[in-house]
Amino acid sequence: MDRRQFLAHSSVAGLATLASRTAFAATLTDGGRVRRALGIPELRPVFERAPLRMPPSVSADGLTLRAAARRVEIAPGVPVEAWSPGDGPVGPTIRVRTGDTARITLENALNEPTILHWHGLRVPEIADGHPRLAIPTGATYQYEFPVIDRAGTYWYHAHPHHRTGVQAYRGMAGLLVIGDAAEDALGFPNGEHELPLLIQDRRLAADGTFAYEPAMHEQMEGFFGDTAFANGIRLPSQSVETTTYRVRVVNGTTSRILRLALSNGQPFTLIGNDGGLLPAPVTLTQIDMGTGERVDVLIDFGKVAVGSRVMLMSAAFESPARMGGMGMGRGMGGGGMGMGRMGAGGVAQGAAMDLVEFTVDRAVTPVAWNPRALPRIATLDPRTAKRTRTFQFNSAMMQHNINGREFDMERIDETVRFGDTEVWTFVNDSPFPHPVHMHEVQFRVVERIGGRARIMPWERGLKDVVLVNPGERVSVVATFDTYRGRFLMHCHNMVHEDMGMMMNYAIV
Ligand code: C2O
Ligand code: CU
Repeated sequence: MDRRQFLAHSSVAGLATLASRTAFAATLTDGGRVRRALGIPELRPVFERAPLRMPPSVSADGLTLRAAARRVEIAPGVPVEAWSPGDGPVGPTIRVRTGDTARITLENALNEPTILHWHGLRVPEIADGHPRLAIPTGATYQYEFPVIDRAGTYWYHAHPHHRTGVQAYRGMAGLLVIGDAAEDALGFPNGEHELPLLIQDRRLAADGTFAYEPAMHEQMEGFFGDTAFANGIRLPSQSVETTTYRVRVVNGTTSRILRLALSNGQPFTLIGNDGGLLPAPVTLTQIDMGTGERVDVLIDFGKVAVGSRVMLMSAAFESPARMGGMGMGRGMGGGGMGMGRMGAGGVAQGAAMDLVEFTVDRAVTPVAWNPRALPRIATLDPRTAKRTRTFQFNSAMMQHNINGREFDMERIDETVRFGDTEVWTFVNDSPFPHPVHMHEVQFRVVERIGGRARIMPWERGLKDVVLVNPGERVSVVATFDTYRGRFLMHCHNMVHEDMGMMMNYAIV
């Protein structure tokens, strides 16, 4: 039974709840015919799917990124004004090898200050893109740093204070892929069988521009687009062969948690996450990702019939946000904020969203990737920690802060001794999920108490973002032994971050 038959069947049988019908409807690409037949309201204007395009791959040696407002195509013949560090709707894909030296010039031709941060990379303080390093219009910034991190999927994005959200949303972001010899030896699919995807969600204004005006309730929970983009392409479609692909996914949304799934129910082989390859591959049908998190998965189209389509989607889920509970009702003057997942036309956290359509077009002799040992990761043992620090993530009354303090560019909130291993515990008693990001370290998640109460399979290995849901307390262990200087820890929900849920820490 294919998906359409299943849909018709479930409608006839009256099995589908509104939620699941909406989820299925959102996965359809037939111009809304089935949706109308089922009496499901339109979720958004129905656009044609556009061919996915890969941003150009560039080396980091002598790279110039010119940040500018420019007209770019988000689909063939559909120009939109984006703010981008390259010629396309997002920046070029920077491909480097461990041991390379990056020499990158940022030119700011935007009408406001900007700075770029190399998310997940351990770099010297002056190369980290701290908001106090933002440069004015017309200025340039010179980055030079050795690439010391492992092979993996990283990314870069604008990081000026109060403007990270809008700038990244308009296109000031790109993929950064590190390769190394240990990974080469594993023979993962590469070339056209490797698909890096920077996923974003946006709203298109009536005039076709990217609309970003978080309303009052969106300044609390976050800003959710109604339309998915990958690599700056709206509702993309990618033609694939009947073989295994390596798909690298970056959650580059403003605020949206993605629950990655394939529409035909087939599993992913998860091989890596934020900090590179996992200790061992894991087979999963669903993977949750907060903003800033990455996953590296193998998708085997070898058993998919030629001529069929498989949607990489964010499956519907119950938002972990606690509407009307906790601070919400008190802080917002009455809990009923009208943020119902259905009522918002598929916009809200947890609504199903199609991300990238794969059309299986060509039969080839499938090349399977056979599981084999992945490179060992040095174990970070929390028992060696010199210190434990606890951080409360608070959201109430139009405020987002850490330990009661909003971000201050010049204030150092924590001081860590160079070389020490520490355990940092992120506590979320607020109504909203917070994807917590640390600059300058790759940490290991050691414990989650409350909420999901376990370490999720996609949280093994090395990470730089961890999703902390309401009611959870998540501990991570890290060694601060790369560079001294001032670095950031913050919530990567960019609305929260821009409103001050961020702090400086110094490694001395
Ligand atoms: Cu992805 Cu401080 O950033
Ligand atoms: Cu947050």
